[in-house]
Amino acid sequence: MALVHEARLLLSCRGAFGQLRSIHASAALAQEAAKIKTFQIYRWNPEKPGEKPHMQTYEINLKECGPMVLDALIKIKNEMDPTLTFRRSCREGICGSCAMNIGGTNTLACISHIDTNCSKPTKIYPLPHMYVLRDLIPDMSNFYKQYKMIQPWLQRKNETTEKKGKAQYLQSLEDRSKLDGLYECILCACCSTSCPSYWWNGDKYLGPAVLMQAYRWIIDSRDEMTEERLSKLRDPFSVYRCHTIMNCTRTCPKGLNPGLAIAEIKRLLSGLAKKPEPRLETAALHNK
Ligand code: SF4
Ligand code: SF4
Ligand code: FES
Repeated sequence: MALVHEARLLLSCRGAFGQLRSIHASAALAQEAAKIKTFQIYRWNPEKPGEKPHMQTYEINLKECGPMVLDALIKIKNEMDPTLTFRRSCREGICGSCAMNIGGTNTLACISHIDTNCSKPTKIYPLPHMYVLRDLIPDMSNFYKQYKMIQPWLQRKNETTEKKGKAQYLQSLEDRSKLDGLYECILCACCSTSCPSYWWNGDKYLGPAVLMQAYRWIIDSRDEMTEERLSKLRDPFSVYRCHTIMNCTRTCPKGLNPGLAIAEIKRLLSGLAKKPEPRLETAALHNK
């Protein structure tokens, strides 16, 4: 009889512990559910001319959201406000389209971790000092026009005899390594839009992103238009508005150094440096 009584006692104790455990579990769940992060996002819609630009507040449960700022933006658009407008494509830091100003820094939303400190909001603006088309979308027309101006493609002097597509141009490993740190640029414009000189003279100064691409072609051992490319930059604005403040290099989300590339262009322009001769005969396969 005593044995049966003890067994019942044990069972009821287990029940009580079970209840206690589930109370703890639901308290923990409630605590997790309370991981609410506030985002304040710049909004402006040209189709509503009476409405001024303003910040709109959204609250997101970080437990139900991916870790990146782009995840939060997509969640807001899909589940809370389909009118929120922003660019994105690759979501892995390759296309450059999700560039915006997050928490005071120009960067890519898809590779920026959400600040999980829920006691302060994360503020998101479009890239600074650009015309805005809507919400987080800057007008990139001037930026692309300037990129076109530097003619970002391989140019040869003798294109009539070196038939395009007939053979490759040779480049030594050492010459090829000079393009490292330049070719990786994804033209996101984070650097140019963090540059005070570009803010004030963006119509005439080419800005760090475009200048780094100019240098990428100037220094390419296979490109023969070095002098022509440099003389297009020889004026008081295109390059010389760079005052080596280095905001550009600090902000680049790909870890590149456009400030250094601009310094190299200045050395070439001033004659302090000279582009070295190619180590391999670049057109050797064409002349066979
Ligand atoms: S240098 Fe960096 S910040 Fe500038 S456009 Fe290229 S990837 Fe973007
Ligand atoms: S180093 Fe030149 S390009 Fe870069 S932020 Fe400063 S002024 Fe602008
Ligand atoms: S979505 Fe392509 S770089 Fe962010």
